[in-house]
Amino acid sequence: MDKKKLLFVCLGNICRSPAADEVMRVFVEKEGLSEFIEIDSAGLISFHKGEMPDSRMIEHAAKRGYKLTHISRPVEENDFYDFDMIFGMDDQNIKGLLQKSPDTSLNGKIHRLTDFCTKHDVREIPDPYYGGPKGFDYVLDLLEDACSNLLNVLKAEL
Ligand code: 4NP
Repeated sequence: MDKKKLLFVCLGNICRSPAADEVMRVFVEKEGLSEFIEIDSAGLISFHKGEMPDSRMIEHAAKRGYKLTHISRPVEENDFYDFDMIFGMDDQNIKGLLQKSPDTSLNGKIHRLTDFCTKHDVREIPDPYYGGPKGFDYVLDLLEDACSNLLNVLKAEL
């Protein structure tokens, strides 16, 4: 079986994408597929490089049993070659990823994570950074929805 490498991307890599990274990791581990699905996350800006996830995201994720440990890093050119699928959270992320893509032949790797949602009919996973606590829970609701179906799609392909 071929290994699939997934990269979750948001703006700062301290809220949405490190949470997506861990939610997907837990789902993959539960199915015993860690050997076949590799997961990482990155940000479109390097402002938070080297930082742990936002403490509010850590707290909300912990309430659902997810332990966030990712250290923020910016998206690099090599990521577009290394990873099989790259997921953006919102319109701005998709635009940023297309701008950073080093070759148009790699653009097909870029996906909108909400396209995998089955319970929520939404286009974006909104940036929770400047909002209140509800925004972080909503991000987790959307991530659990998208990642659960993404895993089903990948299982069918493995
Ligand atoms: P994220 O949230 O993209 O979900 O990690 C943000 C974190 C930081 C900033 C923006 C969004 N910022 O502008 O510093």
